[in-house]
Amino acid sequence: MSALATADHAPTADLCVVIPVLNEEGNIAPMVAALDKALAGIAWEAIYVDDDSRDGTRAAIAAIGRHDPRVRLIHRVGRRGLASAFIEGAQASLAPYIAAIDGDMQHDETVLPKMLAALRDEGFELAIGSRYVEGGGIGEWDKTRAGMSSLATSLAGIVLRTPVSDPMSGFFMIRREVFERASRRLSAMGFKILLDIIASLRTPPRIKELPYQFRTRTSGESKLDAGVLRDYLLLILDKLVGHILPVRFLLFAGVGAVGIAAHLIVLRTGLRFGGMSFSSAQTLATAVAIVGNFTLNNTFTFRERRLKGARFVTGLITFSLISSVGAVANINVSSVLVGDAHSTWYAAGILGAVMSLVWNYAVSSAITWRR
Ligand code: GDD
Ligand code: MN
Repeated sequence: MSALATADHAPTADLCVVIPVLNEEGNIAPMVAALDKALAGIAWEAIYVDDDSRDGTRAAIAAIGRHDPRVRLIHRVGRRGLASAFIEGAQASLAPYIAAIDGDMQHDETVLPKMLAALRDEGFELAIGSRYVEGGGIGEWDKTRAGMSSLATSLAGIVLRTPVSDPMSGFFMIRREVFERASRRLSAMGFKILLDIIASLRTPPRIKELPYQFRTRTSGESKLDAGVLRDYLLLILDKLVGHILPVRFLLFAGVGAVGIAAHLIVLRTGLRFGGMSFSSAQTLATAVAIVGNFTLNNTFTFRERRLKGARFVTGLITFSLISSVGAVANINVSSVLVGDAHSTWYAAGILGAVMSLVWNYAVSSAITWRR
């Protein structure tokens, strides 16, 4: 036995509780106290993953962690997302069991020991806190939020190969080796890490679902916004086709298709009702398509790198230049294909368009929306 193994220090934790937080100052102390109570008799540690909160969240964590080595912090700057926060917290620990729980007291920490028992003693690989099994509930959610949640849950069915009542749950516990099996295939996008993990495993894990009541927030506020929905759709897409094409490219192509439709509508309107010449209607339609595409890509495709203020304007300029080069290349390539290579008009047209799409995507992601 090595000298280290016999040294006099506490063994590492059995259970690591990963707690993603963003502006949860008022919830830190109550949360640690609740964990301490719920996990009595278990060797646990808590890893807070904070995405650069602007309130006193890190100070509150430090105030406890300086006296209690079970409480640790990962501070990320310039990063966002519940899913990647969980992954990094889990990877910073050696514990054989890893739990995810929200840092706002909305999840019921008293379920954690039952989850641990399911994994350690009952042979399960993944224990999920579920709002949708007997005894669980969504608390005080309004109709819209409840409806969205159930819609999202049905959508999750497309990528899950095993029935799960609450795949949107952010409250679960997993064996480390099962998490590691999934880890290289994770999409790590947005909020829904549990769904990501299950859909990333080649064989479905043995799952135990445990009911819990979703509590009402008493401090701080929810971080759910329109971006969460977009991230969720991206996750589903990535799970479906991500191994073939990057989802961001698909979004970019979808926006391009919208741009073509807008172009044709403006062109027709200008010609028919605006009394414009073809060249002025075509110029207007092109301008609308470029500005529209830029704005949509800025809002959806490159949401995390969104340009604002002056950078919005310079971004629009570089994007227009890049698209113009793409258009010229498109025309040249398809003309050569039709003229010299005697391709059919539609094959040449499609090839030219695909080529400029790839060009626009590659170059604008490297220049306009560079990291
Ligand atoms: N590190 C980090 N980064 N933490 C974040 C981020 C982020 O970008 N966004 C939110 N959080 C933290 C919050 O501080 C909170 O501790 C937890 O993640 C959940 O965020 P909420 O904004 O409170 O989420 P919710 O209550 O609307 O959503 C809940 O319901 C979902 C089920 O529909 C969460 O419990 C989810 O985990 C759950 O999947
Ligand atoms: Mn919450």
